[in-house]
Amino acid sequence: KFIRRCTTQVSNSETVVSSEPEISSNIDNDVPRPGVDLRRFSDIQEERRQEALRSVLVRHVGKATEDELTKFCSHFGEVQNCFTYGNQELYTLLEYKSRGSVHSLLNTSHFRSILEILPYRSRLLCFRTSNWMDNASRRPGMGEMTADQKFSILATKLCAAQSMEEQMQVLVRETQLTEGETRLRFLVCSLVEDAITGYFPGCIVHPFGSSVNGFGNKGCDLDMYLNLNVEQHRTKKKKSFPRMEYEVRTVPTERAATQNLLSTVGQSLAEFVPSCRQLQYILHARCPLVKFMHEASGIQCDLTSNNSIALKSSELLNLYSRIDPRVRPLVYAVRHWARMHHITSSMPGGWITNFSLTALVIFFLQYTDKPVLPAIDALKGLADKADTCVLEGNDCTLVSDLTKVQPSENTDSTDELLLEFFEFYSNFNFKNCGLNLRTGEMQEKKNFDALYIQNPFEQQLNLSKNVSMHQLEKFVQLSREAAWMAEQPDFLQPEVGSKGWSTPWGLVSILSGHNRRKKRLMDQKEFTPILTPSSQGIPKGMSDREYTSQNLPSS
Ligand code: CTP
Ligand code: MG
Repeated sequence: KFIRRCTTQVSNSETVVSSEPEISSNIDNDVPRPGVDLRRFSDIQEERRQEALRSVLVRHVGKATEDELTKFCSHFGEVQNCFTYGNQELYTLLEYKSRGSVHSLLNTSHFRSILEILPYRSRLLCFRTSNWMDNASRRPGMGEMTADQKFSILATKLCAAQSMEEQMQVLVRETQLTEGETRLRFLVCSLVEDAITGYFPGCIVHPFGSSVNGFGNKGCDLDMYLNLNVEQHRTKKKKSFPRMEYEVRTVPTERAATQNLLSTVGQSLAEFVPSCRQLQYILHARCPLVKFMHEASGIQCDLTSNNSIALKSSELLNLYSRIDPRVRPLVYAVRHWARMHHITSSMPGGWITNFSLTALVIFFLQYTDKPVLPAIDALKGLADKADTCVLEGNDCTLVSDLTKVQPSENTDSTDELLLEFFEFYSNFNFKNCGLNLRTGEMQEKKNFDALYIQNPFEQQLNLSKNVSMHQLEKFVQLSREAAWMAEQPDFLQPEVGSKGWSTPWGLVSILSGHNRRKKRLMDQKEFTPILTPSSQGIPKGMSDREYTSQNLPSS
């Protein structure tokens, strides 16, 4: 699947093509941060939401072209942006300059037959030209690439870089969500919101998780949070009599209410809303959710409700992703490494989740000698009164103005930090220590969970409670192996073969686990990654392997 930006011919006006989100200049701060988007998280989200509300998603029937589509659509108003994607079947995300144009387009659109379950006026449309029958044959499609083929293409690009630092930049560029993919995610939320608004007026469906936290990968799931906005009605209630109250059905717990709501919403998505397929109800999880595939976008969606703190955690990660330009390349590299070595998985279970993994990176950057990132309490200390936020009784206040955060004095390069990350966790005392991102310090572990990372906002919870001892051991062993590889003399030396391609080096060695010396030693069955003791210090006379096994909590 690909997404490409199409040049939009707009009637009576010049071609308009979207640019990357505007980057505001850092006027008040002495230290400029080139390339960093300094807007408030809430402003970025609102801008994306408004873009989505001005947009429609259109399937091309037969061989209808983008030009034909944009020409047709521009009769209803100025088209601001177009993103066309697809393989055998083409779709265009089309954004108007004003929301009224969407209504004009919908007012003249047709229903196909009388067989529709419900004549539902969705912003998911299909475009048919007069010769659609002649051209109805599908476009020849390119088959989906396997994970190996995708990595092989990526590895070639990474091996062609000049330094490991550049490799990490290339990895971000090649695997991050593109502008079109990000817009598509907001549009899918907006389409689902349209469907739910019919019976819950005023509700909002927010994307959260990796779609908005600055660390999203192509193909990552779309986490959605349905906010019914009932809070507003409650706060307006006055304690005066006589008064009128709503007659409502009650349930024993808030959790039961969430389960009922998601079950009802899920059923209506399955029955009436086009493109929502393969509904799965996971209502007994700690955080009840409904999973479905949004076919037109090809995005796997997880719909939750009563989950406002998760949106705040996404804001927190997003802040960290922008505070220092080294954070994103580092997190992308660690996430990619973890995926390739099956440390993370999309299946539920004892694996380390991407959220926990990102927390591990952030903690390392807070704890390292010269911190790269401030602790959460420090971010709270910089907050204005308007930033105050209490959710479900938890103080979730964070600074929203990024210019208030002082840049770090740490000057290590991104690749140095990556190798320090692997060393740090190769020797970490997981047995006795938990990670506290609020203070940026280790804390005594409060229970026997294998990995303890205090939840940033619900501080009594461990966000990595699910992680099994086996998976933690695997993470430590693979961190040791990565650190070992980085110490090999040929680690940064590409070996150019006769056909001009080079063997894996630098980041590619770490991602693929392939190293020339390791291969030789493995052939001789002598491979044991040995680490030099890090600054945390392995006690004298103890091998690093003994040290690590003693410092992991017992299974
Ligand atoms: N979350 C949380 N507590 C957890 C797990 C998740 O608060 N124990 C919240 C976080 O805000 C996280 C979001 O739920 O960002 C989505 O979780 P998940 O989909 O597991 O992580 P992503 O960051 O979206 O990564 P992925 O690309 O794997 O989807
Ligand atoms: Mg996710």
